[in-house]
Amino acid sequence: RKKMTIQQLYQMRRVGTPITMLTAYDFPTARALDTHGIDIALVGDSLAQVCLGLPSTTRLSLDEMLHHTRAVARGTVHPFLVADMPFGSYHTSPEDAVRSAVRMVQDGHVEAVKLEGGPEIAATVRRISEVGVPVMAHVGLMPQRHAALSGYRVQGRDAASAKAVLDGALALQDAGAFAIVLEAIPHRLAEYMTAHLNIPTIGIGAGPGTSGQVLVWDDVMTRWHGKKAKFVRRFADVGHEEGRGVQNYIGAVRDGSFPNSQTEGYEMAGGEWECFL
Ligand code: KIV
Ligand code: NA
Repeated sequence: RKKMTIQQLYQMRRVGTPITMLTAYDFPTARALDTHGIDIALVGDSLAQVCLGLPSTTRLSLDEMLHHTRAVARGTVHPFLVADMPFGSYHTSPEDAVRSAVRMVQDGHVEAVKLEGGPEIAATVRRISEVGVPVMAHVGLMPQRHAALSGYRVQGRDAASAKAVLDGALALQDAGAFAIVLEAIPHRLAEYMTAHLNIPTIGIGAGPGTSGQVLVWDDVMTRWHGKKAKFVRRFADVGHEEGRGVQNYIGAVRDGSFPNSQTEGYEMAGGEWECFL
């Protein structure tokens, strides 16, 4: 397999092959995505909660993000590598946003950046795209705005808000976004948007009618024990296995069965023990 490109993602959309995207925050996870054929690796700013224990994505700094994107980049040979621009790193002006995006590429080794927002960030998306950093847009539920939105809520359930989500997506496509994440919107709206946009849509809580799907690694693997969103499906129970591992380790240390001096330790070189004594 070769490196996934935007052109190949467009081809997948055209022929109707669902695009697979998962988050990764460290090297071993990146290796797993790579080995098993994920199309896009996303260093999501969900990093804040599931990996760093912060209360929301708005607490994550650009430097913290870069530390993780470098680790993921080292393990990501085949998947296309996208990372979230942290809250605050693209809001003060399009120039600041370009500067942050350049840091994401130069210091963070990512191939594309993802930004949350609607028409109000279209100028920023245009500037970043123009300098050659591909931008993935993100509309619908925007976790970086959880306080302004009074929580993590489904978007676009009434006609007016559905229209706002669609208009935002069209403006971002016009501004040069190469793909767009649709988070927590009704499946009929996501399907309609997918049909009326020319760029791939990647859904999370947006039903099966998108060009692809994304989920958070820790949700998929059941390693995250916060509130489970309705759209999360747990595909493996790594959390249970980890618990078993910790308990087995404690048990074996306490009962003296670990380590085994024959198979899990080292011998002195011949005769040296007597010299030592
Ligand atoms: O931060 C994240 O993990 C995301 C995806 C869930 C889309 O933005
Ligand atoms: Na995110």
